[in-house]
Amino acid sequence: MPNLVPKALRKPGKPGEGNGALSPEKLKEAPVDLVGWVDERTGASPFLTGLLFRKVPKGTNWYYTLGSATLFAFLVQAITGVFLAMFYVPSPVEAYGSITHITNDVFLGEFVRGMHKWGATTMIILIFLHMARTFFFGAYKYPRELNWVIGVVLIILTLVMGLTGYLLPFDQRSYWATIVAMNITATGPILGPYLADFLRAGAEFEATTLSRFYALHMMLVPGLIIALIGAHLYLVVKLGTTAPPWVRAESKPKSLREEKV
Ligand code: HEM
Repeated sequence: MPNLVPKALRKPGKPGEGNGALSPEKLKEAPVDLVGWVDERTGASPFLTGLLFRKVPKGTNWYYTLGSATLFAFLVQAITGVFLAMFYVPSPVEAYGSITHITNDVFLGEFVRGMHKWGATTMIILIFLHMARTFFFGAYKYPRELNWVIGVVLIILTLVMGLTGYLLPFDQRSYWATIVAMNITATGPILGPYLADFLRAGAEFEATTLSRFYALHMMLVPGLIIALIGAHLYLVVKLGTTAPPWVRAESKPKSLREEKV
């Protein structure tokens, strides 16, 4: 029987046993060996075991899934966005045409575009709900303040994704809505006018503005979001999850719970 296991994955043979080709019995264990092979070279298994089998406090409930739901919504946006980028053309003359082409002609184009559009709204709703959960459960307190701050930056970046994405169809609605948003930005204190100039990418609202919004929407901001989600999840695993307030209250010593007369 030919040896199906790639050479690099074969167990090193004992001296005098040739090149370590596996017997049919050993071959059945190949997937297990593959995990071991990756682990030996990355040392990832303690991290993954810590991540997947970490202890969560008593009383954890469905509200704790909102963070993962936000993550899932972001992944849907990233995947559907890649497909849209295959057909979208970021030029004032062609942008709208490329969007109607996606909707009317491309196989499943309308579906994927709909997922991206409604997914954006869904992600914003989920991120606010997740923030509300961490706020009302007091999960922003010591030692998780930094994770809260990272979360605030994530929510701002998610809103920036919404703003920059809205212009991309370049129809009348998105054009005028973005001009209004730009004018509002320019009225902001100190940084406002500079920020508006940066977004407009020139004196006029034109082709360069669309290119800038597209670059921000598909490269810079998603890159920052991915990096910050990485830091956010690292801290979640490192610091553990906060128990619900009622469980924390129960675990306080009785003397602290009783009202003093
Ligand atoms: C892209 C956006 C975000 C993603 C993907 C995300 C993901 C997560 C996940 C998976 C968890 C652990 C499970 C859970 O508690 O739900 C978590 C926890 C946490 N998140 Fe987020 N999050 C995001 C945005 C935010 C925002 C906007 C805030 C607040 C401003 C925030 C603050 C926190 C805090 C403080 C924790 C720790 C909760 C605890 O210890 O119980 N996150 N996040």
